[in-house]
Amino acid sequence: MPHLSRGFSRCTSLAESKNNSNAVVLVTGGAGYIGSHACKALAEAGYTPIVFDNLVYGHRWAVRWGPLEVGDIADRERLDEVMRRYRPAAVMHFAAFTYVGESVTDPGKYYRNNVAGTLTLLEAMRDHAIRRMIFSSTCATYGMPRQIPMTESHPQAPINPYGASKLMIERILGDFDAAHDLRSVSLRYFNAAGADPQNEVGEAHDPETHLVPLVLDAAARRRAEITIFGDDYDTADGTCIRDYIHVTDLAQAHVLALQALESGAGSTAYNLGNGQGFSVREVIDCARRVTGREIPVVMGTRRAGDPARLVGDASRAIAELGWSPAYANLDRIVATAWAWHQSPRGSASAEAPAS
Ligand SMILES: NC(=O)c1ccc[n+]([C@@H]2O[C@H](COP(=O)([O-])OP(=O)(O)OC[C@H]3O[C@@H](n4cnc5c(N)ncnc54)[C@H](O)[C@@H]3O)[C@@H](O)[C@H]2O)c1
Repeated sequence: MPHLSRGFSRCTSLAESKNNSNAVVLVTGGAGYIGSHACKALAEAGYTPIVFDNLVYGHRWAVRWGPLEVGDIADRERLDEVMRRYRPAAVMHFAAFTYVGESVTDPGKYYRNNVAGTLTLLEAMRDHAIRRMIFSSTCATYGMPRQIPMTESHPQAPINPYGASKLMIERILGDFDAAHDLRSVSLRYFNAAGADPQNEVGEAHDPETHLVPLVLDAAARRRAEITIFGDDYDTADGTCIRDYIHVTDLAQAHVLALQALESGAGSTAYNLGNGQGFSVREVIDCARRVTGREIPVVMGTRRAGDPARLVGDASRAIAELGWSPAYANLDRIVATAWAWHQSPRGSASAEAPAS
C-alpha cells in the first residue's frame, strides 16, 4: 500500500478515485511550496493528487491531500511503478531546482534535473498514455523585459540557466505534442507569494531567497535586517518592482488549466501574475503595516541581471481559463504569509540574501 499522509481523509478516498482514473493527478514536486497548494486546490475540485517528490527541498508535512510517493523524476523505474499503480490521467509538474544564482554557478545541476529529469518524466507519460501536463514555467524564460507589462508573445531570451532550462522544457513539450499528442499548458509564473489562507501549508524554502518571507524574518527578528539591492533604479522610489501573485491563485489556475485540457483545449502557455508591480520598499512598508513590527533596512548595491521592473500581463489566462485571482491585494498576500510565518512550520531560513 502506498504511504497515506495524515489529512488524506479530507479528500476523495483512493478507492473511490480508482473508479474514476480521471480524478487522479500525479503532482511532481507536490511536497514543495506551490505544489502543495496545488494539491489542496485539486482535492477541493474533486481530484486525488498523488505527490511524487524526492524530498530534496520538499516536506513530508506539506503532503496532506493524497499519498506521497518518494521518488526522483529521473528514476524511470520508480515512475513506471507509480504510474502503473495509480494510472493518473494527468501530471502537474512542479519538480525542479529553482535557485537562479546557483544555476549560474552550477548549470549542469539545473539542466540535468530540470531538463533531463523532465525528459524522463515525459517519456514515461508517453509510454503510459498519460497525455496531459500542466507545467511550472516562469517569467525567467523572457529574460530582460522589452516592454511592461509582459505578454505571452514577449520574446523568450532567458539570461540564466534556470530560465533557459524552463524554456527548453517548453520547447520539448511542443515537440511531444506534435509527435505524441501530449497536450500541455505551460504556466509562466511571476513571483509566487503568500500562504494558504486556512494556514494549512505555506512557504518553507531552505535556503530562502524570496523577498516576502525574508522581510517577515526581519519583522520576527529571525534575521537582523533586510538588504535592498539598489535604490537608484528608474522607478518611483528607486527600488526594483516585481509582480507578486498569491500562491492560492496560482494553484487555482492549475486546476482551471487542467480542466481546459480535459475539455479539449490545445497546448498553450499563460502568464500568471497579478498585473500590478510593487517595489521592494512598498513590500517592506506593507510588511510593517501588516505585522506592526519594525523592519530594519540596509542599502546594498545593485545585483547583476536585476531589471528595474518585471510585471506580467495575465489577461489571457483570465479571459480563456476564467481565472479570477482572489488575493491580488498586497496586504492580503503579506497577511497570509505572516500568519503562516508565525506558525511552527513557517520559520524560513535567515541566511540567504533578499531577492
Ligand atoms: N516560487 C516561485 O516564485 C516560482 C516562480 C516561477 C516558477 N516557479 C516554478 O514552480 C515550481 C515550484 O516552485 P516552488 O517555489 O514550489 O519550489 P520548491 O522547491 O518548494 O518545490 C519544488 C519541489 O520539487 C522537488 N524536486 C526537485 N527536484 C526533484 C526531482 N528530480 N524529483 C522529484 N522531486 C523533485 C523538491 O523536493 C520540492 O519539493 C518550480 O518548477 C519552479 O521553477 C516558481
